[in-house]
Amino acid sequence: MPQTWMITGANRGIGLAITMELLRRGDHVVAAARNPWGGALAELAAEHTSALIPLELDVTSNESVAAAKAALGDQPLDVLVNNAGLYGPRDKQTGLSVDFDAWREVFEVNVYAPLRVAQAFLPNVEAGAGRKIATISSRMGSLGSNPSGSLIYRSSKTAVNMAMVVFGNAIRERDVSVLLFHPGWVQTDMGGGAADITPAESASSLIRTIDASGMAETNSFRNWTGEAIPW
Ligand SMILES: NC(=O)c1ccc[n+]([C@@H]2O[C@H](COP(=O)([O-])OP(=O)(O)OC[C@H]3O[C@@H](n4cnc5c(N)ncnc54)[C@H](OP(=O)(O)O)[C@@H]3O)[C@@H](O)[C@H]2O)c1
Repeated sequence: MPQTWMITGANRGIGLAITMELLRRGDHVVAAARNPWGGALAELAAEHTSALIPLELDVTSNESVAAAKAALGDQPLDVLVNNAGLYGPRDKQTGLSVDFDAWREVFEVNVYAPLRVAQAFLPNVEAGAGRKIATISSRMGSLGSNPSGSLIYRSSKTAVNMAMVVFGNAIRERDVSVLLFHPGWVQTDMGGGAADITPAESASSLIRTIDASGMAETNSFRNWTGEAIPW
């Protein structure tokens, strides 16, 4: 019996790699993206006509989330993956110089959106058998690592960790697990060409770790192979 996963930011990078790996193994994917009909998703849709469900979604927009929820209807989801993310301007996020407008924009995508999407699609996850909501955070949000630089990005990932833990506790009784992951340093537009691992390596390992997770792992912060990361 194939599972159905919904992935945000499914059109490129880690989101696209997760989508491709799920389709390869025979699962169904609700591929949510600002433009789910172009580029790599268009090619995949031609190949996987029934298994890939394109869904238009700008995660920062209440209207877009409401329209996407209406379009998906009561479709059960086994797993929802909050993957869409933004880094912010590389040169304006030190302790001494921050672009506040960019900071706000990154918080819209990295912090508010995962909760907005999780709240909106929770009924679909509760209707599914997998009952998991995973958010792609980053170890750069870890407070214990004596962090310096990347203030905008780091603070957004610290904040999303807290937001999802509070959310996880609010729905603990509903038997839906809430999971936070660092995906590795991954060769994407965000991670750059010098990163440690390919999107495919990150995706297949993340999927294995999510498969093996349940309520015992709710509110955990782990890397792509399942090892705990300090908050
Ligand atoms: N790469 C790494 O080394 C690394 C390390 C740690 C954590 N992460 C996290 O992993 C996740 C994926 O990163 P990535 O490396 O794959 O990044 P990426 O290649 O830059 O892709 C970012 C994705 O997010 C989507 N997105 C951005 N704003 C959006 C919005 N308002 N609505 C809908 N989608 C939006 C983009 O869609 P568009 O194409 O429409 O812009 C794109 O699909 C992010 O949460 C990131 O913070 C990555």
